[in-house]
Amino acid sequence: MKIPFSPPYIDDDVRKEVMESLDSGWITTGPKVKELEKVVAQFAGVDFANCTNSATSALMLVLHWFGINRGDEVIIPAYTYAATALAVMHVGAKPVMVDCGSDLNIDASKIAKAITPKTKAIIPVDIAGWPCDYDAINTLVGEEAHQFKATTEVQKKLRRILVLADAAHSIGAMYNHKPIGSQVDITVFSFHAVKNITTAEGGAICLNMPAPFDNEQIHKTFKLWSLNGQTKDAYTKTMKGGWKYDIVYPGFKMNMPDICAAIGLAQLRKYNSLLLKERKRVFDAYVSAFSEHQWTELPPQDTNEKTGSYHLFALRINGISESQRDQMIEHITQTGVSVNVHFQPLPLLSVFKERGYNIKDFPVAYDNYSREISLPIYPELDQAKIDYIVKAVVNAYQLTK
Ligand SMILES: Cc1ncc(COP(=O)(O)O)c(C=O)c1O
Repeated sequence: MKIPFSPPYIDDDVRKEVMESLDSGWITTGPKVKELEKVVAQFAGVDFANCTNSATSALMLVLHWFGINRGDEVIIPAYTYAATALAVMHVGAKPVMVDCGSDLNIDASKIAKAITPKTKAIIPVDIAGWPCDYDAINTLVGEEAHQFKATTEVQKKLRRILVLADAAHSIGAMYNHKPIGSQVDITVFSFHAVKNITTAEGGAICLNMPAPFDNEQIHKTFKLWSLNGQTKDAYTKTMKGGWKYDIVYPGFKMNMPDICAAIGLAQLRKYNSLLLKERKRVFDAYVSAFSEHQWTELPPQDTNEKTGSYHLFALRINGISESQRDQMIEHITQTGVSVNVHFQPLPLLSVFKERGYNIKDFPVAYDNYSREISLPIYPELDQAKIDYIVKAVVNAYQLTK
């Protein structure tokens, strides 16, 4: 049996929505993006969201808006995808890495030690769709406000470290009964092809800045800055007499096309009623199957305080080495099941090694990475496929140990 790792969810509603965009004669940023922004904002429990062409762009745009620059530091987890760090480096700042906890998320108790007067932002990441300890992080930035050195007007207005959640995995997750998107100052979702909701490539920024910030104004600024700083988008220019525009800011080209937004729109409309439920079904089936095996460590499961988005099923195997994990993956792959590893901690990757990050400083990240195998999790997996995957993992363990 061939079981892919994470195919996009494409049904007739998605096809219909995409065809509508094609047939309308308008495929780049226009009405579909506007509608998606509204729906995303509703999901996140905020008033305003901006769509972009990726989560990486979205993170860069926010960091740039907050005036983060050369000489500044941004705290990120060592256990994440490279984009979290690259967005920081692209605006000229230095990523300062913090080790993770057993839930794979940044260890909130270790963040304080990483804060310096140069720290301008913290980017917690909801690994696998599991919410970070946002109460602890929000409390911490308040406590550390005394050493915050504001250098731009926006920073002077906030007077503390910005909390920018990388929620690339966690659309639909909840923390303290409120959706991810409304936990911290700004939250970024990814709509990359393998994510719970996809626009092929894409991202969204959810605005939740505290008073005296005006989130509607920030939304307008992000619209402008994500489209070259041009006063009229291409769609508006097609309106009667709309040809004339100005460029009022040296902006970026980070806008999402309508044809992409169409995919996400159709998916998001059935996310809570179908897609998220189906992901939970698969997640729960794995939990029930693997909890029989002492040699497995299961990912965190829903509590009263946190519910995940079931983006990844990050299984860990107790008592094996990195090379044994790799062997297990070989065995599983031979059965036709595609699995993955999330993530190689950043200090294992050349670009970060070359910049002096050392995996020895992140022992929890390394330990978890070395024992981790991400299993397929998506709505189309029926019980027969789940049983097949479980059997493939169990056999691989027996062949390896
Ligand atoms: C944790 C994390 N952050 C950021 C990103 C970047 O998302 P995008 O591909 O939309 O730029 C990803 C994508 O895989 C991710 O997993």
